[in-house]
Amino acid sequence: MKSTDNQANPRSAGASTASVHGGAARDKGFHSVTTPIVQSATYTFNNTAEVIEFLDKKVYGGELNREEYGRYGNPSTWSLENRIAKLEGAEDAVVYPSGMSAVTSLFLTVLRPGTHIVMTDDCYRRTRQFCQTTLEKFGIETSIVPIADYDALEAAIRPRKTRFIFTETPTNPYLRVADLRRLVELGRQYRAMTLLDTTFATPVNLRPLEYGVDFAMHSATKYIGGHNDVLAGVIAGDKGRIKALKDARGILGNVVDPHQAYLLERGLKTMAVRVRHQNESGLAVARYLERHSKIDRVYYPGLASHPDHEIAAAQMGGFGGVVSFEIAGDIKATSDFIDRLRIPYIAPSLGGTESLIEQPAYFSYYDLSSEERQAIGIKDNLVRFALGIEDAEDIIADLEASLYEVPAAVSARQAS
Ligand SMILES: Cc1ncc(COP(=O)(O)O)c(C=O)c1O
Repeated sequence: MKSTDNQANPRSAGASTASVHGGAARDKGFHSVTTPIVQSATYTFNNTAEVIEFLDKKVYGGELNREEYGRYGNPSTWSLENRIAKLEGAEDAVVYPSGMSAVTSLFLTVLRPGTHIVMTDDCYRRTRQFCQTTLEKFGIETSIVPIADYDALEAAIRPRKTRFIFTETPTNPYLRVADLRRLVELGRQYRAMTLLDTTFATPVNLRPLEYGVDFAMHSATKYIGGHNDVLAGVIAGDKGRIKALKDARGILGNVVDPHQAYLLERGLKTMAVRVRHQNESGLAVARYLERHSKIDRVYYPGLASHPDHEIAAAQMGGFGGVVSFEIAGDIKATSDFIDRLRIPYIAPSLGGTESLIEQPAYFSYYDLSSEERQAIGIKDNLVRFALGIEDAEDIIADLEASLYEVPAAVSARQAS
C-alpha cells in the first residue's frame, strides 16, 4: 500500500497498516523507506511561473502539492498528519508541539468573546485551568459538569452561546468513559461542536469521528509518540475545520520541527502493536489488583465494577494501559508502596514503552490541601499506574512484592 490519498474517511486499513503506510511524504526523496527529516526553514521555486501556479492554488483553491515556508508546513509533518488522519478516519489532521498547544490553539482559533464551553470534570487539570483562567479573560466562559450526567450537561448548555462540548475518554485518573452517541446528539441539538480528548484511548481503541464527534484530540506525547521522548499534540477532523486550524497555526507559529515529526512518525508505526499489548496487560493488572486484600478499589473500564464498563465495552476496542487504584492505607503507606516498586519509574505521563507511576496527591494536586483534594475527588491513597510494554507477569510480581509490605489495615472494603 503506497497510496498518499488523503480522502481518509473511513479507514480502509487496519490501525497498524494505516500507521505504517498511511501517508508517505509528498516527495520522499532518496527512495528511502522512512520519511526524511527535511531540515529546511524555507522551500525554493524554480522560476516565477512555479510561484504563480502555487499562489493561484493557495489563493483560489486546489491541492497544494509542495511546501512554501516552514511555519506553514514541512514534508515530515505533512506525512505524520496524513497518517493520523487515516487512523482516525478523518479527512485531515493537524499536529502541534504539545497536547496543550493543540487544545489551546483550537479554542483560541474558534472561540469569540461571549461564547461558552461545557466541559466535564475529571478532565486534564491544565486544560480546565486554561479555560477557567485564560479564556475567561477573553470573555469566554466555561461550565464544568460531572461526566456521565447528561441532564447536567444539557442544563449547562447555553443555546447559541455554547460552541463546544468537551470531554476526555477515558478520563484521568478515574478512567470514566463518556457515551459518545449522547454527546453528539446534544451537540447537534444545540449546534455546539463536540471535542473529545481521546489521549487515553488512542485511535486503536476508539475512533470518535465514527460517532459523529467533530474533533478528536490527543496529547501525542503519550501513546502516539510512545517512547517517553517527545512532546506533541494532534487534532483530527473535517478538511475545512482543520484547514482553519492549520492557517491559524501558521500565524500563531506553534509548529513541530521536522525532528519531532520524525520521532512521532517512528513511534506511530508501532502504536497499534504497543496498545494491544497494553490493553492485555492493563486488564491482567486490573484483575489482579481487584482481588488483592491490600487494595481498596480499582478503576479500570475493562472491569465489570467500573461505572462505565458497559459503555466502554460497547464503544472501545480495548480498555487501555492505565489502571488507577487505591491502596488500603494512608498517604504514607501509598507513597511507600510506590517507592518499593522496581519496574515503573515515578513520573507523570503515560503511554510510553516504560511504565510510569504517580500518586496524584503528590503530582498534579500537590498545591491543594488534603481536604481540597478530597473535595474534587482526588484521594490521598490513589495511585495511577500507566503501563509500559513490560511483561504483565513481571509487573504483577513487582506489585505483589510491594503490596506484601503494605501494613495490614482495615481497608474500606474489608470493613464493609
Ligand atoms: C488527557 C490529556 N490531555 C492533554 C494533555 C496535555 O498534553 P501535553 O503534555 O502533550 O501538552 C495531557 C497531559 O498529560 C493529558 O493527559
